[in-house]
Amino acid sequence: MSEWRNSKGTPKGPGFQPGPVLGIESSCDETGVAMYQSGRGLLAHALYSQVALHAEYGGVVPELASRDHVRKLLPLLRQTLADANLKVSDLAAVAYTAGPGLVGALLVGAAVARSLAWALEMPAIGVHHMEGHLLAPLLEDPAPGEDPLAPPFVALLVSGGHSLLVGVEKIGHYAILGDTLDDAAGEAFDKTAKLMGLPYPGGPALARLAETGNPEAFRFARPMTDRPGLDFSFSGLKTQVLLAWRDSDRADATRADIARGFEEAIVDTLAIKCRRALAATGYGRLVVSGGVGANRRLRAHLAEAGRREGFRTHFPRLQFCTDNGAMIALAGSIRLAAGQASGPGIKVLPRWNLEALPEVA
Ligand code: KG4
Ligand code: ZN
Repeated sequence: MSEWRNSKGTPKGPGFQPGPVLGIESSCDETGVAMYQSGRGLLAHALYSQVALHAEYGGVVPELASRDHVRKLLPLLRQTLADANLKVSDLAAVAYTAGPGLVGALLVGAAVARSLAWALEMPAIGVHHMEGHLLAPLLEDPAPGEDPLAPPFVALLVSGGHSLLVGVEKIGHYAILGDTLDDAAGEAFDKTAKLMGLPYPGGPALARLAETGNPEAFRFARPMTDRPGLDFSFSGLKTQVLLAWRDSDRADATRADIARGFEEAIVDTLAIKCRRALAATGYGRLVVSGGVGANRRLRAHLAEAGRREGFRTHFPRLQFCTDNGAMIALAGSIRLAAGQASGPGIKVLPRWNLEALPEVA
């Protein structure tokens, strides 16, 4: 990340409020485009999900994902510009997900973003996908009478690729407090759903099924909660479910009961580690984001724990928990306001440590 200088070579000063920032998300199987302007909020957003394309393969096929991003990105860009009543020349910068994610899919978004920025002579900002998730609650207005979300806070980022507990001392200054040793939380949902014959994508399908299940029927382990530490491990839980399912009568009601038992175990485990992270840091706020952050039982459980135990909880709205362009536009806008932008060249990082990001001054 380098400093962006305007055409006169002057860095933007403190308090600088940039114009609208275009955000492009293409790290996996959702094409997201949005415009965000600091002081005005989200101006427009559009999302195209490739779920139907990958469903017959039971998972994301990287090459198909890249090709579909190519097809959808420019139409979505035209649509969001029209919705926001903007021309490309009204934009202040182009932000795009530079990683982590599927390399081909990332390259599509990066190439479009970089080309636009070059043609329009404006900065391009390569955003870390997980920073996008982490900042997504800032897309929401604070509840009446409440002050807006600000660091320090703990963030639980749970998606298809990550399960992270992050200490956020300042925006851009991140400490990984806990990580998964094997499957990510979303991956555990997806794999467990698959082994019980649920349709792709498994996480939401399993959560829907769990609503009708009996929480007392199956009790699965809360992995790694019986010892200190903030790391996760979910693959053993998946095996427990496999054994329970294999030995069961495989009736629809049993499947719902197992789904409920699995969901309870994941939610409980995540909540125990969130509490520990809050206690370890002394922070009083918890952000929950990423695809699994859309899980209603997880949200309700943590919100209730916060009310009871005195910590504040912040969630993005459901549609901004899963991948979207709005969070990338927002993160880009925050970095642009701090005078930061990426150097020239189309560079993506399929793996990228959140702790390596520069702090936002
Ligand atoms: O953040 P996201 O859209 O993509 C990644 O960056 O990975 O997260 C997708 C993950 C998938 O594993 C999906 O099954 C899971 O989030 N997910 C859910 C729910 N909605 C999405 N898991 C549990 N309950 C949900 N309601
Ligand atoms: Zn994501």
